[in-house]
Parts: sequence; C-alpha cells; structure tokens
Amino acid sequence: PPRQPYVVNGQTYPLDEWSNTPPSILSKVNRNIHLLPSHPISILRQIVQDHFSSHTALTPSTPIVSVHQNFDELGFPPDHPGRSLTDSYYLNREYMLRTHTSAHEVESYRRGLDKWLLSADVYRRDEIDSSHYPVFHQMEGTSVWPIDQLHTLPELNAQLAAQLEKCPLLIEDETTISPSNPYQKHHDPVHAEQITRHLKHSLNSLIFRLFGQQATKDGEPLRVRWIEAYFPFTTPSYEVEVWWEGEWLELLGCGVVMQKTLDQAGVPDKAGWAFGLGLERLSMVLFSIPDIRLFWTQDPRFHTQFSAGKITTFKPYSRYPPCHKDMSFWLPPGTMSPDPDAGVAGVAGGKGRAFHENDYCEIVREVAGDLVETVTLIDEFSHPKTSRQSKCYRLNYRHMDRSLSNEEVNELQQKVQDRVVEEMGIEMR
Ligand code: PHE
Repeated sequence: PPRQPYVVNGQTYPLDEWSNTPPSILSKVNRNIHLLPSHPISILRQIVQDHFSSHTALTPSTPIVSVHQNFDELGFPPDHPGRSLTDSYYLNREYMLRTHTSAHEVESYRRGLDKWLLSADVYRRDEIDSSHYPVFHQMEGTSVWPIDQLHTLPELNAQLAAQLEKCPLLIEDETTISPSNPYQKHHDPVHAEQITRHLKHSLNSLIFRLFGQQATKDGEPLRVRWIEAYFPFTTPSYEVEVWWEGEWLELLGCGVVMQKTLDQAGVPDKAGWAFGLGLERLSMVLFSIPDIRLFWTQDPRFHTQFSAGKITTFKPYSRYPPCHKDMSFWLPPGTMSPDPDAGVAGVAGGKGRAFHENDYCEIVREVAGDLVETVTLIDEFSHPKTSRQSKCYRLNYRHMDRSLSNEEVNELQQKVQDRVVEEMGIEMR
C-alpha cells in the first residue's frame, strides 16, 4: 500500500484503507496512446469516429472519477464484484481510476449532448498475459432523442436497413425481449423496439466497416452474432461478437439506456441507446498484433509501421529473448481456497486476507513493470497432513527494447520474492 497521498495532475487525494493504486499504474495516466495519430488504437478510434460522423467526440481530461460516477449513478449494486479492491484501482474510498467509459455517461447527458462518442483509457486489476494489461482503452457511444422525436426513427431505420442489405453480412440474432432482458416499463414498447433496431443497425454497419474488407476476401459473408447480456445501466442489453479466424470474438456491450440514468442527468424526457467497445482486442486482431504490451512500446520498429486511416498487418520484428524463473511458496496458514471477491469488505493490503492472484500479479508488475510478459500458475499442491497449500508460478521476463541479463532477472525475481513475503504473508518453499 502507498505511504504518501496521491498527487495527480496537481490534485491531492488523501489515503485511506481503500487506496490500492500503485505508482506504476499512475505513471500511465498521461500517456494517451489513443491520441497518437498513427498508433493502432488511435487509428481504430478515428475509424469509429468517422463512422459516427455526426456524433460529438469527447476526450475526458483525467481517468480519475468518483466511485459514484463509475458505479453508483449507473445502478451498480453495493456488492457488485467489480467494486472489489482486487478488481479496481482506488485512490481512496471516494475516487478511483475509471473501469469503463460508461463512467462519463451521466455527465455527458447532463451537458445536453444527444449524440456523442468518447474514447479513453480505463483501468482494471487483472492477470498478466499477452492479452491482458491493467490499462486499456474503450469507446463509449450513444444516441438519445427527445421522446417527442422518436417518431422519426422508423424512417431512419428503413434507410439504415437498406444500406445494410447491400453488405455481405450474416447477422445471427436470436435475442428476444423476455423477463430476463425486458423493455423498460416507462417506455412505449413501440419506441423501445425502434431504439433497439437503430442500435442494432448502427453497430452492424460499424462492424462491417471495421471487418468487412478483410473478412469477406474469400467470398464468405461477415458473421456477426447478437447475444443477450446484462448491464445495470441498460435494458434490453446485448453483447456483440464477430466470427474471426474460426472463433467468436466479443467486441462490445450495449443496450437501451436505463431511464434512471437519464433522469439523474436531468434529461428525463429523452431515450436512446449506448455501447462500449474495447479497442485493444479489436486492434490486436485487425492489425495482427500478437502482444498487448506492444501498444506501450517506444520502439520505432513498431510505430513506423502504421499510418493514420489504414488498417495494415503488423510485421513482427525480432524480439529480444525471454527468460523465465519459477517461484514456489506456501500460502499463509489458514488460507482456504482463493476467494475471488476477497476485498469487497474494504480491507486493503494483502496481509490477513485470502491469497488472490491479482494481488500477486500486481506486486510482480510493481517490481518488473512491462518486463514481465506472463505469470502462469504451473503447480498447486496441498500438503496431505497439514493441508497447507502451496503454489508455483512461472514468471516470464522479456524486454521489449533490449536483451535482459540473467543477473538482472535474478535481481527482479528476488525483489518480487521479498515483497510478496513481506506483503502477502506467504512463505517461500
Ligand atoms: N461499460 C460496459 C463494459 O465495460 C459496456 C457497455 C457500455 C454496456 C454501454 C452497455 C452500454 O463492459
């Protein structure tokens, strides 16, 4: 846990028992890779913006939001697992790093904006591997209409449908309106149906814009699948997936904005839809980028490959060799099986609570930063007599921009070891 109050962009945040944001994470706060003109994340942002050309593009100035904005005003229940200290980064009990761009919905509606798009960095505590990184990027997009304008939707929808007819697109949509995914009771079902239709047409055409060219090269149509989902701030809610290289790839979450959200923003006489799209996974598949950490490299061999407005295939350059080290340890005595929700009760710090892999990974990242490529559980063991549990993790190190020496790696490994012993109460084997 940190010792001095956080100071971010000139603002001081006093510490309390919720403070769990490490400096390595705060150092990402002003990088803004989604705004570098020829960065893949930014290229996709721009394509989405071009697609929704009548939407106002917003870029919030800081990722720090209140817990109220990130969760409460969007209707997240008090015991929602996303609120846990093992899943989110808190500055203190009142402020946190946003975990999704939806944190800016209410303030944007409050500004009177009906059609807006927002791109931003979001933060979630997570495992470490080639597709997970604690900082990533999302785009939020919404269209809301004054209720007395909703009668214009059927015509708009007919136009959108006619354009989609011309695209080689196979939409698999078996979603239904049901008690588990209902229209809102304040909505005229005819209106809700038209909003849902507009949402589906708008996103299907966005997905065709992003994937169409590459996916339909072999003459097969692009397959898009709509499935029922649940979000506290939309209903009905959906997730959208695209068929890509033999797998369904989850792209985004969306739905009809909960009327409560609009009421809180002081615009109770509007209704519409919202979506949230993750940019990293999308960039990895569209640009063939094999490792999420490449988005953060400063290596010109990465950056010179991309240019604004173009989706091109990344050509891997030779990477420096990896080096792995294993670490075996006993969990603190009395630790039962890992509890994924440990921390909900608001107990910060590692000591005295169940072992959680995210806490372990966090310390690894703290010490080794981007030098650690993967942390993999390779062995688990429960002592037959004492029933004490042990785990063995393999830490794989690699530098993006140079070779690592064995001594250097040993030193990192030792530091990780010292810290996990000190902070997590575990014992090396
Ligand atoms: N914020 C949601 C997420 O991060 C996505 C979402 C956005 C869902 C807008 C519905 C509407 O998973």
